[in-house]
Amino acid sequence: MSERRVLLIIGGGIAAYKAPELVRQLKAKGLAVRCLLTAAAEQFVSPLSLASVSGDKVYENLFDLTDEAEMGHIQLSRDADLILVAPATADLISKMAQGLANDLASTTLLATDKPVMIAPAMNVRMWEHPATQRNLGLLRADGIALIGPDEGDMACGEFGLGRMSDPIEIAAAAHALIEKAPARTSEPTAPPALAGHKILVTAGPTYEPIDPVRYIANRSSGKQGYAVALALQALGAEVHLVSGPTALNDPQGMRVTRVETAQEMLHACQASLPVDAAIMAAAVADWRPSDSHDKKIKKTKSGLDDLKLTENPDILATIAKQGDHRPALVVGFAAETDKVETYASEKLARKNCDWIVANDVSQDSGIEGGVMGSDENRVHLITQTGTQNWAQMPKVHVAQKLAHEIATHFTPTKETR
Ligand code: CTP
Repeated sequence: MSERRVLLIIGGGIAAYKAPELVRQLKAKGLAVRCLLTAAAEQFVSPLSLASVSGDKVYENLFDLTDEAEMGHIQLSRDADLILVAPATADLISKMAQGLANDLASTTLLATDKPVMIAPAMNVRMWEHPATQRNLGLLRADGIALIGPDEGDMACGEFGLGRMSDPIEIAAAAHALIEKAPARTSEPTAPPALAGHKILVTAGPTYEPIDPVRYIANRSSGKQGYAVALALQALGAEVHLVSGPTALNDPQGMRVTRVETAQEMLHACQASLPVDAAIMAAAVADWRPSDSHDKKIKKTKSGLDDLKLTENPDILATIAKQGDHRPALVVGFAAETDKVETYASEKLARKNCDWIVANDVSQDSGIEGGVMGSDENRVHLITQTGTQNWAQMPKVHVAQKLAHEIATHFTPTKETR
């Protein structure tokens, strides 16, 4: 039997923070999971962490035309064997009971003919309210399965019924229900836009050791590069992610090579060739200590005067050099604190790349706390024919938009336009 799939709809309640654990438990049961977040759920759980644990694109907004072109709400439902709503908030339960359809979650729920299970989570008073109980009665009558809620202490300080069931129990119940569900019938769909394309992505910082306890590094969380890798994978690309040290989990279903230094990153990238495209989002350290020290350097009066630096190889420029294995599309990133477009355009020419994704990493970029480590980004896409200025948006959306541009570049006649 083909792999069974769960569409997990995450409502906007405090219990949404348990969603990554629920995804893990469902996967442990051998189920594939695709996540769909309501707007409120995004306040409690990050789309990027869900994309990492599920190994799939996370769906959020009904009116995202890119999503609708690639995977409409009907297709989301058609591709699932079971729709699981967890946490099912009082609001979402009410919408389901009334048949409302004003966002991607409620529209998908109204459009489905698949089995649906809900795991409610709310304050005990909301749970006991006659309106909620009336709505639950309607859902039961519609054949919707229910798991929980449990009794216990609540985030709001009260005690009673309303806690979402444990992810292990929800996963077990979902698995039991899916076993009984009829096999999925999916209409044939066009292959994803980047199917058959091999793409190399670099992400994160590099660490250049000074001695066994110290290193030189750039500020980079790796979030933007990982999001790009996942977005390309969601469009069907075979992705090889070469990552410097980050706190992020390896994305599922793609080749991941972990490296530490710029030289290791260069070798891993060269070993990955040939590829159709290379997206170099890593924040590579420009220099490394010239001498390696096996022992910790002790503090002396001369401080680190003896620290001599050697310039690191430019990975982007090396990969973009004309030659037999030059990828057809080489995309660099440019982190600038001033004259963003001017410096980025110079970088595009100097490094012989095709596009540059330029971002303003200055403290006055308009993004609270700066771009580094943030979930938000504002970028300009600079190509040899012009510049697109993109609005500020989550890094996950920047990644999806970039993946879409790449798909359009390779298959301009497909539905990606
Ligand atoms: N890059 C690289 N290898 C390096 C330095 C940078 O591959 N040794 C790549 C980055 O991955 C990014 C692009 O080059 O795609 C630009 O990185 P950035 O740090 O903005 O540029 P630098 O070349 O370091 O220039 P400068 O620091 O002078 O702005």
